[in-house]
Amino acid sequence: MYMQEILDEIVATIGQSDDRGQVANYIPQLACIDPNQFAISVAMADGRVFHAGLSDTLFSIQSISKMFTLTIALGKLGDAVWNKVGREPSGDPFNSIVQLEHENGKPRNPFINAGAIAIADAIMMGHQPKETLAEILNFVRFLAEDDSISIDETVAQSELKTGDRNASLAHFMASFGHINHPVDHVLGTYFHHCSIAMNCQQLAKAGLFLVADGMDPVSKKRVVSSQRARRINSLMLMCGHYDGSGEFAFRVGLPGKSGVGGGILAIAPGKASIAVWSPGLDEVGNSKLGTQALEKLVQQTGWSIF
Ligand code: DON
Repeated sequence: MYMQEILDEIVATIGQSDDRGQVANYIPQLACIDPNQFAISVAMADGRVFHAGLSDTLFSIQSISKMFTLTIALGKLGDAVWNKVGREPSGDPFNSIVQLEHENGKPRNPFINAGAIAIADAIMMGHQPKETLAEILNFVRFLAEDDSISIDETVAQSELKTGDRNASLAHFMASFGHINHPVDHVLGTYFHHCSIAMNCQQLAKAGLFLVADGMDPVSKKRVVSSQRARRINSLMLMCGHYDGSGEFAFRVGLPGKSGVGGGILAIAPGKASIAVWSPGLDEVGNSKLGTQALEKLVQQTGWSIF
């Protein structure tokens, strides 16, 4: 079966499901998104791209942005990143505070909220949120080769207003001396990078460097070393879906990063970068139909890494 047929079938079957999960309701601006939307894009290592559904509709990438900020942090700090955050799965919800108390305020990994807040602090390096955000946005635009990508300010404000849990995580880490900038600056940076809006076409393109050992296989731009690309993929596999990471590895078998906007970026090493979006989430906050779509795609292509 050809890729376009596979994607069209996924949209016609899974994309039409009645059992779509719940949109994120703790961020008011995400709570009002129509759950009846679905998109998938596949950017192949050989340069071909395939799309089906609403693949040019923008959505809030939310925690998928944590892959971009981790990559920037590794570029700036190298292995010193691991003094700020660990690299083990947490087994706890993405916004959990419990583990921080037991482990001296050091987040278990860079993808749980606490870890991503610590990474935002790490990449600021004395700069203002605006400058840091410009850097993050530039990196994402460079990867996606699309300068139109921007931050949805209404989502960022909505997160700011309802972000008590994230503020707690940040202050708690600060109490251990782990935050080097004013907490409100770090939170502002974090909320805004989570509020980057992208579509599946842009996101699949932006993930291509992780398909081919750190180099975009189409533009031939080297983004990170091959070792770093492998390590980012391993973190996505182990931690990219929070306490649902084991389930995702079991069902899909690819490194992946999810966001509460309903997007998932999955990497089939050597093969393709896949972005899928459906706003309804499962119990642990990962896109319900997005996961099903990836499961189906991997069954049809044999792309599981296992
Ligand atoms: O901080 C938050 O809660 C959101 N900005 C991001 C959380 C998220 O995307 C978790 N993913 N499934």
